[in-house]
Amino acid sequence: MDEAIYQPYRIKVVEPITLLSPREREARLVEAGYNVFNLRADDVYVDLLTDSGTGALSQDQWAAMMRGDESYAGSRSYDRFRAAVDDIFGFRYVLPTHQGRAAENVLFSAVVRPGHVVPNNMHFDTTRANLLANGGDPVDLPIDVAYEPRTLHPFKGNLDPAKLEKLIAEVGTERIPFVMMTITNNSAGGQPVSLENLREVSQIAHRHGLLLFIDACRFAENIFFIREREPGYADKTPLEIAREIFSLADGMTMSAKKDGLANIGGILAMNDRDLFEAARERLILMEGFPTYGGLAGRDLESIAVGLREALDPAYLADRVGQARYLGEGLKDRGVPIIEPIGGHAVYIDALGLLPGFPQAAFPALAVTNAFYLEAGVRGVEIGSVMFAHPDAEGRTVYPRLEMVRLAIPRRMYTRTHFDAVIRGGEAVARKAKSLPGYKIVEGEGPLRHFVARFEIVPRK
Ligand code: F0G
Repeated sequence: MDEAIYQPYRIKVVEPITLLSPREREARLVEAGYNVFNLRADDVYVDLLTDSGTGALSQDQWAAMMRGDESYAGSRSYDRFRAAVDDIFGFRYVLPTHQGRAAENVLFSAVVRPGHVVPNNMHFDTTRANLLANGGDPVDLPIDVAYEPRTLHPFKGNLDPAKLEKLIAEVGTERIPFVMMTITNNSAGGQPVSLENLREVSQIAHRHGLLLFIDACRFAENIFFIREREPGYADKTPLEIAREIFSLADGMTMSAKKDGLANIGGILAMNDRDLFEAARERLILMEGFPTYGGLAGRDLESIAVGLREALDPAYLADRVGQARYLGEGLKDRGVPIIEPIGGHAVYIDALGLLPGFPQAAFPALAVTNAFYLEAGVRGVEIGSVMFAHPDAEGRTVYPRLEMVRLAIPRRMYTRTHFDAVIRGGEAVARKAKSLPGYKIVEGEGPLRHFVARFEIVPRK
């Protein structure tokens, strides 16, 4: 990436991190049962496990947090949170939640019933799990190129409108409580959705009398790509584009741990009064009073400031620039990645790196563990450990892609750190032919990627 990036902040508070020796790293990974979720933060040098709640707060966020009003009801912090949410998203009713999946569960438990079907460009895993837990059937309708690692498309996160029309015709509108759109599409590589696509999906949903909800976790990053790539938007401000996006929808769920730039928090918002009343009842049961929703007043303050900072064009250029710097660096050193590079992470194409590696031996886990051993870097496996499952006859169904996600916490790491990750990637690529496979020895089940322990299976 030749384009100059001007990092629009400097460092005021320092958090020490250490790089363990290769021998120590190996010992820790063995103790962790070859699952990086079982590592301690102290064992990790550059932690790219997630971009969720892990970023650095700004001085304005810390200052605002001192103003946190911890009143149970009617807190001033809620008013400031509400003012930011109203300004950007413009929905009539707003409920804070403790994080994104809580917003999902409050909404879904209020309206989703057994037999319901929810279309989405692609559900994030908690969204999928929360729908299933409420008896719903989550259906992914991405454009086909979403599954092709190296096919370039400016808006690879788009939903395929023809697939949506077909699904509505097949299941009927009574069984669809709402349509969802996830921006950016995390599960397919942090890929953006175009405004044109959002407009078309909104029209289809509304023509059929269906509501459209946006999973807005990374809405600001999505806006960066709209400004960069969609004709007519380069000169609009991120705030103007945000208003246009959310005017197309009837509600939203959001994890404020992403583009809210906060360490914790979530948002559920909507226009429909009956739906709001049902959701509010669920919220009081599950989260707390509607003006705090499972958060401290200071968390609401942090979100109120963070949402606005996330829409700063200089911040967004630095943010997406970091992902590109890391992704281009890895690619140049022979590590195949999902392209184009998305907003919050670099996704390594593990089968591209390890052609012929059997999916039963977990190629993306092999690459994840090699990154830790080579460089103290913690990424996350998004492949067969996470997604392989038995079909009705008991045969294993493997996912189409075996990926390792290196997610970038916001405003946290510098190019020095990314250079270390890139050197690690180069070492992993060099050793690709000799990486071992793995088998699960403990912790089977639908959430095994978090808890399972593994043993090495040498490659013949
Ligand atoms: N929707 C999307 C698209 C997400 O990426 C996430 C979280 C959620 C919903 C749930 O939000 O964590 O606040 O409950 N993604 C994190 C990740 C965990 O690592 O990608 P949450």
